[in-house]
Amino acid sequence: MSDPITVDAATAIDFFADGGFYQFPSINFRTPNVFAMVAFIGDLVLKVPAPAWTEDFEKYAVHEVRDAVNPCVRPADTIETARGVQSALAGFPEFQTLFAADPHASHFLVVHKLQHQRLRHAHLVNVPEARFILLKRRRLGVFSTVSPAIVQERSRGTALLAMFDDVRNEIRNEWRHCLPTIRSILNRLIDSGLRDHLNWFIANFIFDGETGILSYVDSKPSFLFARSGNERNIDGLRKWFGCA
Ligand SMILES: Nc1ncnc2c1ncn2[C@@H]1O[C@H](COP(=O)(O)OP(=O)(O)OP(=O)(O)O)[C@@H](O)[C@H]1O
Ligand SMILES: [Mg+2]
Repeated sequence: MSDPITVDAATAIDFFADGGFYQFPSINFRTPNVFAMVAFIGDLVLKVPAPAWTEDFEKYAVHEVRDAVNPCVRPADTIETARGVQSALAGFPEFQTLFAADPHASHFLVVHKLQHQRLRHAHLVNVPEARFILLKRRRLGVFSTVSPAIVQERSRGTALLAMFDDVRNEIRNEWRHCLPTIRSILNRLIDSGLRDHLNWFIANFIFDGETGILSYVDSKPSFLFARSGNERNIDGLRKWFGCA
């Protein structure tokens, strides 16, 4: 069998297939975020889960832990748990082969694919195209699994976080003319069924001033983050962007 293709050889998202195997890239990852190690490859973004992401996935989707003190936005649905993954797989035959080889990695990928579909099918915000893959690395001449990973199309524009002037505690002057557009999209999202499926951290939203398109780039389902922090982030966005 030929070697798996290296991720950094990719030029477009269609290079990747869900459930496929690829070689770990040779490029450097940016300083890790809390959950994801992120690498930008041309017009693509590669996200490899940092320990916090895999450990929390194990905690909430495999062991189905529920935190009493600081609960997550919601518990994992049965279809998202290790008990339910078989029924999820019925809708995603492209992960079947992978499941036989690595049930944990394919459970992780299928659940994140479900989250991606949930967001895309709502048509309320731009959600970049993504593929859900497995990374392998050659050790002692043999390819072994390193990690599940997500490849996304890169959203061009400015993160809402970068529009915020934290010295003056307000949106920078040069972005003020975009406030009505951003506000109306955020209002629509806050009032929608997606409210409890988004991570409202301000850095997860990217606005393209030329097209007026707002993108949401975070990949995590909402059983992986706390409701209290998420509500605080909604309040912050409402305040800074003047939402209803
Ligand atoms: N598709 C994308 N296009 C452009 N930028 C992106 C994309 N995906 C991620 N980023 C950038 O990388 C950051 C981290 O990605 P992501 O939110 O998926 O990881 P995370 O671990 O949840 O990060 P954090 O802990 O900061 O929320 C994003 O806040 C965004 O600035
Ligand atoms: Mg994020």
